[in-house]
Amino acid sequence: MILDGKAVSATVKDALRERMPELEAKYGRRPCLCVIIVGQNPASQVYVRNKVRAAQYVGMESRLIELPEQTGEAELLALIAELNADESVDGLLVQLPLPRHIDEEKVIEAITVEKDVDGFHILNVGSLQVGRPCSVPCTPKGILRLIDSTGVPIEGKTAVVVGRSNIVGKPVAKLLLDRNATVIMAHSRTRDLKSFTLQADILVVAVGKENVVTGDMVKPGAIVIDVGVNRRADGSLAGDVDFESAAQVAGWITPVPGGVGPMTIAMLMENTVDCFLAARLSA
Ligand code: GUN
Repeated sequence: MILDGKAVSATVKDALRERMPELEAKYGRRPCLCVIIVGQNPASQVYVRNKVRAAQYVGMESRLIELPEQTGEAELLALIAELNADESVDGLLVQLPLPRHIDEEKVIEAITVEKDVDGFHILNVGSLQVGRPCSVPCTPKGILRLIDSTGVPIEGKTAVVVGRSNIVGKPVAKLLLDRNATVIMAHSRTRDLKSFTLQADILVVAVGKENVVTGDMVKPGAIVIDVGVNRRADGSLAGDVDFESAAQVAGWITPVPGGVGPMTIAMLMENTVDCFLAARLSA
């Protein structure tokens, strides 16, 4: 069966959309997401546009700040400081990757933890690790939501995560562990990847390389989550999993596009509302 990220994300966004009038009545304004993009990376431009469009659909305020490629690091940090202090902004994200002359780590740490809707700030990363309340990164959070949409319990299952990035692999492994899965982390140096993936009741693939997982590597009935977004020479998109062969074996599988991608954006909307509420409940 296909795990339809578009459909699940629509449910999430519709639920948020319904809450907007109540939030506005109670707090005097709607949540506001501010998105900063530096430069012309075509994929980033598409992602950013989709984020702003989702905010509009949900009925939140949104701001898109587009800066030229040659924007200096100091200039970007000054803008972030200004938006940190701006009480009309609840969620603030800087689209990655950034141009090479800007230190990403510095930029991520500059965003105040209270507005870090990406969950990338070191304090959010640490809080997730030790189990404190925090902004959970959008893609991992969306993946768990997709798995839950199957109705299959996670507890006790063997989950294999292929890929160990800070944005996806590591946090999704922690979220699965928190739900009492037995988690195996595999990566580019893993020997005999297939021997691990064949054990996976839940298989999350986030490597960024086409055909890392093929049908012969999937356990029959498994839930397969494909996080990859790879642009082919002909312009089409492919995941990290060979969909055709894997779909023959899997119980559930996400398509690319239309699987994880829309969930990331829906979770960003949720995180923005959560930051908005947290700021008001702590005031
Ligand atoms: N680039 C790729 N994924 C993401 C994301 O989730 N957030 C940001 N800010 N940049 C990204």
